[in-house]
Amino acid sequence: MTAIVQASRLRVRPLGNALGAEVTGGDLKTASEADIEALREAILDRYVLRLRGYRLDDIEFTRFVERLGPLHTSPDYVKDRKVYVKESPLMSVVSNIVENGEPIGHHGDGELGWHTDLSFTDIPSEFTLLCAREVPPKGGNTWFCDMYDAYESLSLEMKQRVARLTLKHQASHNPQYGRWPGWSHIETDDVREMPGPIHPLVRTHPVSGRKTLYLGRRFGAYIPGLKLEKSEALLDELWSHAGRPEHCFIQEWQQGDIVMWDNRCTMHRRDAFPGQGRRRMHGLMTRGTRPE
Ligand code: OGA
Ligand code: MN
Repeated sequence: MTAIVQASRLRVRPLGNALGAEVTGGDLKTASEADIEALREAILDRYVLRLRGYRLDDIEFTRFVERLGPLHTSPDYVKDRKVYVKESPLMSVVSNIVENGEPIGHHGDGELGWHTDLSFTDIPSEFTLLCAREVPPKGGNTWFCDMYDAYESLSLEMKQRVARLTLKHQASHNPQYGRWPGWSHIETDDVREMPGPIHPLVRTHPVSGRKTLYLGRRFGAYIPGLKLEKSEALLDELWSHAGRPEHCFIQEWQQGDIVMWDNRCTMHRRDAFPGQGRRRMHGLMTRGTRPE
């Protein structure tokens, strides 16, 4: 622990085996430099933090996230440019709630498969923070897995094989809803032709200096330069190293929980919750850097 972090009033308790920690105590509304530094240290160590017992309204939540870094602005093609929360125009809403025939947010009540946020953009976000405003009695848990571990568990031979490969993270198709609004003109379903940024398959975390597998999402992924069947087979093999349940942290939400994760070294998924009631999460992201 660095000297400044010792002055923090936040308590950090590791959860689970590999990743995840719970942060309690102090007050995020008046977080000190030491508190912010303690969070940086904790997330570098545990990749996912659950901040529990804080009561932040949307403005307080936004001010807090801004302390962690500049807020991320999504490129045009993933944004419908709708402002969900007047006081915080960059806040997203993840919800199954429909009001006056209109969904008040994204993603309904279905399962969300393993992914990392915005890998299909040139400069993906660094941290995502979700704040639980409404939580159904059952379902809708969010799972996180450790992508350092996914890399480290590869054989030496596989590490050498993937060292120089890249991955195209297709940008046009959203697995739940077809094509993103800005890409509705894209006709092809061939992963080799779909548009999207190309990132290294193995990236180095800019702060820890450790290597991680950077898979983004399985749907629509393609390794440029390989025959389609080779790309599919290699991706299936790499994906089998990620998301093993015994290596996951599973967040069971309580109202008011804020979960903060590092998109550079984790992936996440969400359980479905049909018929289980209202769920509403308010989300913000901080700006990342180009994967290298
Ligand atoms: C997302 C997401 C997780 C959740 O919106 O990208 O991963 O628990 N949501 O709803
Ligand atoms: Mn996500």
